Amino acid sequence: MAGDRMRNKAQPGHPADPSAPAAHLPVLFAQVMDGLRVVEDGRYLDGTFGRGGHARGVLERLGPGGRLLLMDKDPEAIAEAERSFGGDARVSIRRGSFASLGSWEQARELDGLLFDLGVSSPQLDVAERGFSFGKDGPLDMRMDPESGESAAQWLAHADEREIADVLWTYGEERQSRRIARGIVARRAQEPLARTAQLADLIGSIVPRGKDKSHPATRSFQAIRIHINRELADLETGLDAALAALKPGGRLAVISFHSLEDRIVKQFIARHAKAPPANRRMPQLQDFVPVLADVGGGAIRADDAELVANPRSRSAVLRVAEKLDADGRKAA
Ligand SMILES: C[S@@+](CC[C@H](N)C(=O)[O-])C[C@H]1O[C@@H](n2cnc3c(N)ncnc32)[C@H](O)[C@@H]1O
Repeated sequence: MAGDRMRNKAQPGHPADPSAPAAHLPVLFAQVMDGLRVVEDGRYLDGTFGRGGHARGVLERLGPGGRLLLMDKDPEAIAEAERSFGGDARVSIRRGSFASLGSWEQARELDGLLFDLGVSSPQLDVAERGFSFGKDGPLDMRMDPESGESAAQWLAHADEREIADVLWTYGEERQSRRIARGIVARRAQEPLARTAQLADLIGSIVPRGKDKSHPATRSFQAIRIHINRELADLETGLDAALAALKPGGRLAVISFHSLEDRIVKQFIARHAKAPPANRRMPQLQDFVPVLADVGGGAIRADDAELVANPRSRSAVLRVAEKLDADGRKAA
């Protein structure tokens, strides 16, 4: 695939295909299908099922002997997977983080594996999930509402410094300290329980930016990343993915945040290229690559997709192939 940048044309299963369901627009669909290079009797895992846009595309390319393993942290995504594909003998479904895929017996010798990171449109659209500053709901933000602390619970006890660090690190929020101070002052008066309360509070502290985005955009993103341990899951998930792929198998990861993309990029580079020679590590001469970057670096949406799906603006896809034990491409 290196060099042959993939085009986003109407492919089977893509919403541009009139036979596909219209509601959800999977990002970089054609590029993901090309990157995974789906073969009829292959074994694939979609670690972030969401509403199944990419999974549907993989299934349409699989023959009766193929397998597709589906995961998602979100019980509503899993319920949708059961409704749509529960009756398909080629499909297995498991609820949980892709960080735990190593413990799934069936997730072995994979031909391809996809992580399409971040939140799904339904998570953002349903006020009760508490992800959106634009829709009032309980301040939750958990992809798995039965695991870990909600955003409200965390904001009720986290100290000011920790809140500021999260806003700065995951949201690059320049007003992180002022917002953290404001949160701690407000919670002494009343619990912060609703998304609108937090959005209004941040709006009263941070002026609207030149780009007219809501002042709470960066803070909500940062709190969501923290609450769901998104970067730690990604690091663990990438290691598990590499172990689960067979030589020749493809790893495709779509990121929406620069910190995520940096983790993916460095992961691929670490397994593809020997680090520069270093006096203290002479054994590096024996470096055998485990992965090859077959996507030619970052793959982004083309103009047509940018117009059709604004969510694709920040999407970056990277594709790598697992090499054989000698560091060569599998035949
Ligand atoms: C961008 S959506 C995926 C959309 C999907 N590719 C589609 O075409 O419908 C991201 C999904 O990944 C899930 N998710 C995020 N992090 C996860 C993790 N560590 N493990 C499992 N699922 C995760 C979210 O719950 C959400 O449903």
